[in-house]
Amino acid sequence: MGKLKLGIIGCGGIANQKHFPALSKFKELCELVAFCDVVVERAEKSAKQYGTEDAKVYSDYHELLKDTSIDIVHVLTPNVNTSS
Ligand SMILES: NC(=O)c1ccc[n+]([C@@H]2O[C@H](COP(=O)([O-])OP(=O)(O)OC[C@H]3O[C@@H](n4cnc5c(N)ncnc54)[C@H](O)[C@@H]3O)[C@@H](O)[C@H]2O)c1
Repeated sequence: MGKLKLGIIGCGGIANQKHFPALSKFKELCELVAFCDVVVERAEKSAKQYGTEDAKVYSDYHELLKDTSIDIVHVLTPNVNTSS
């Protein structure tokens, strides 16, 4: 079986402090192939640091979810609406 392909929505604190370092320990099992953040620079930085060479970067999570090759999505966005 090939590696599980992961997509990440929200590349902020919990992603960088917990999820990315933890997932990095399981490189034989999974690979990070897509990163999304509304602040796209965060997705770009995370993709460079933790993603596969051809990892995709998005600012709109709808676009990431269109990629049917992704097996698992981690949703790491705030659970409250901070825009109002
Ligand atoms: N940071 C921690 O140590 C910690 C610990 C336990 C639980 N959590 C939980 O994790 C979740 C995320 O917290 P955090 O601290 O990582 O917040 P954060 O603000 O550091 O990161 C969230 C990221 O999501 C991005 N984002 C917001 N809306 C988005 C959208 N619609 N599409 C794409 N990206 C979007 C933001 O730009 C930001 O980069 C929260 O529910 C929080 O309660 C965090």
